[in-house]
Amino acid sequence: MKFIVCKNYDEVMTEAAAIVAGVVREKPDCILGLATGSTPLGMYDRLVAEYEAGKLDFSRVSSFNLDEYYPISPDNDQSYRYFMNTNLFNRINIDKANTRVPNGSAADPEQECKDYEAAIDASAGVDIQVLGIGQNGHIAFNEPEDKLYAYTHLTGLTENTIKANSRFFENESDVPRQALTMGMASIMKARKIILLATGAAKCEAVKELLSDRITTAVPASLLKLHPDVTVICDEAAYNCN
Ligand code: F6R
Repeated sequence: MKFIVCKNYDEVMTEAAAIVAGVVREKPDCILGLATGSTPLGMYDRLVAEYEAGKLDFSRVSSFNLDEYYPISPDNDQSYRYFMNTNLFNRINIDKANTRVPNGSAADPEQECKDYEAAIDASAGVDIQVLGIGQNGHIAFNEPEDKLYAYTHLTGLTENTIKANSRFFENESDVPRQALTMGMASIMKARKIILLATGAAKCEAVKELLSDRITTAVPASLLKLHPDVTVICDEAAYNCN
């Protein structure tokens, strides 16, 4: 696991966007693994700016997103599909038919998970996976537990995550209690992973990444088993006070 420590949020986003843009330039038909949450927003803005400046072409790019609430309709403004359309896909020339987000309105969520994992396997493989990290070390919706899941699955949200995500909803009771999420192995199938962590609230989680320990109590710590992971963080997330 490699670390890049930047001064602040903006620098983390610039660094992350440069890495993703590099993959798109080198391999115009690449497959991106994408995340929602507040962290990658600045990276998406920078990728959009490069596209608008005519420096980046997404016409042959495809993508897989990490997760989606369940149940939720894709046009609910809190769905991750809506988030991705608004913050990235509608702003660049990616073919939406080539973007996949788990279907939060699937009638059979277990089947949707199987189909999603099968679609990842049938693809040429994710070239770069972008990750955020929860304060408790979760990645996607893989929350600290004694046992983690390997593949895409339906999972319950912890109280911690419901609280953290309630800032986007009118009431905490509106936060869906379940989600469809890639598992640890689905994430680790990516050839390259970048994990973005900014702000002091993430520093305990980053500290666990800096340690030698691997534990299901900090799902992101399992990324130490992957050969090509770069953590890009700001000083606030890197240095716990
Ligand atoms: C988002 C996701 C989550 C977030 C994490 C951090 O697709 O899978 O694991 O990356 O909750 O969220 P933010 O960036 O809002 O702090």
